[in-house]
Amino acid sequence: MITTDINKAKIVLENNGLIALPTETVYGLAGNAYSDIAIKKIFELKNRPFYNPLIVHIKAISSVFEVATEIPDTALLLAEKLWPGPLTLVLNKKAPISDLITAGKKTVAVRVPSHPITLDLLHKIDFPLTAPSANPFGSISPTSAKHVFNYFGNELEVILDGGDCEKGVESTIIGFENNSPILYRQGSITQEMIEQIIGNKISAKTSSDASPNAPGMLSRHYAPLTDTYLTDNVPDFLKHFEGKKIGVLLYKQPIEHSNIVQEEILSLNGDLNEAAKNLYAAMHRLDQLKLDVIIAEKFPSQGLGKTINDKLERATKKV
Ligand code: TXA
Ligand code: MG
Repeated sequence: MITTDINKAKIVLENNGLIALPTETVYGLAGNAYSDIAIKKIFELKNRPFYNPLIVHIKAISSVFEVATEIPDTALLLAEKLWPGPLTLVLNKKAPISDLITAGKKTVAVRVPSHPITLDLLHKIDFPLTAPSANPFGSISPTSAKHVFNYFGNELEVILDGGDCEKGVESTIIGFENNSPILYRQGSITQEMIEQIIGNKISAKTSSDASPNAPGMLSRHYAPLTDTYLTDNVPDFLKHFEGKKIGVLLYKQPIEHSNIVQEEILSLNGDLNEAAKNLYAAMHRLDQLKLDVIIAEKFPSQGLGKTINDKLERATKKV
C-alpha cells in the first residue's frame, strides 16, 4: 500500500518485513540490515542473484563504525562533503554485517541517503537499512511510489511515498584499492565532482562483468521489456524501422517522423540534472505503450551525460 505513515514502516521493519522507501536517487526495497530473514526476503522478492551485494543505509556519518572497521582519509573527506547524498562508499565491513549482504565479500557498500522521510525513519529505528533499488532484478529502477507499486503491488504492505526522486539516477559508488579511490559505478555525483573534492584524477572500474570488485555492474541492467536501441543519430537510425511503432527518448531536441508514437524529451533546456531526474520515468512510460521499438539518443559524454549514457548502454545491451 502507498502511504506516508513512517510508524507503519517502522513496525514492518522491526518484524523482519520489507518496505519500499524514497531516496533522492531511486526508491529502495528496504529491510533491517541486521536481519538475515529480511535480507533473504529482499533477494527473493527482487529475484536477485546472491552474488550481487546490497548497499547499507545509515543515518549519519557517525554511524559508519557500526558497519565498517575503518574509513580511509579520502573516503572521510568525500563523506563529509557529500553525505547525506548520493555517494556510496565501499569500506571494510564489520561483524554485524552478514555475508549475505556483501555476497561473501570483506567489504560493505554504505551511504547516508538525503531524502527527509527516509532520514527520519532511520533516526526512529535502531538498525541500519539495507536497500537495493525497488525493482525486479535487471529492470528499470523506480523513481516514484507508483513505479514500485506497478512492480510489486500489494506484496509490499508499506510503500512510503516521498514524491518523485530528486536526482533520478543511482548513487555513485567509490571503492578503495591500496588506499586509492576507484569509481565502481557512475551515478548521480559526477566523476569530475569527486576529482575536484579529492584534488586528483581517479580511475574507473565500471565495465560490468569484468571486475570481481563490482559484481553488480552487470552489462545488461535498467532494461525496458521493449526492444531498445541507443544511437547518436536518431533521425538516421529511424530509417531502419519503417512501418514500426516507435518511441524515442531524446536529450533536448524534438524531431519529426510519422512513425513516432511517443517522444520523450528529457530536458528542453539541455539541463543534465533535469534529464537525469526524468530518465527512468520516461523509460517506464515508453515501456508501457507496447511499442515495437524504443530508440534512445546518446548524451554528450561529460558530467552527468556520462552517467546517463552508462544507464542507457546497459538498458540497450543485447544479451
Ligand atoms: O542510489 C542507490 O544507491 C540506490 C538507493 C536505493 O540507495 N540503491 C541501489 O542499490 O542502487 P542496488 O542494489 O540497485 O545497487 C547496489 C550496487 C550493486 O551494483 C552492487 O554490486 C554494488 O552496489 N555493491 C554492493 N556492495 C558492494 C561491494 N562490497 N563492493 C562493490 N560493489 C558493491
Ligand atoms: Mg539496482
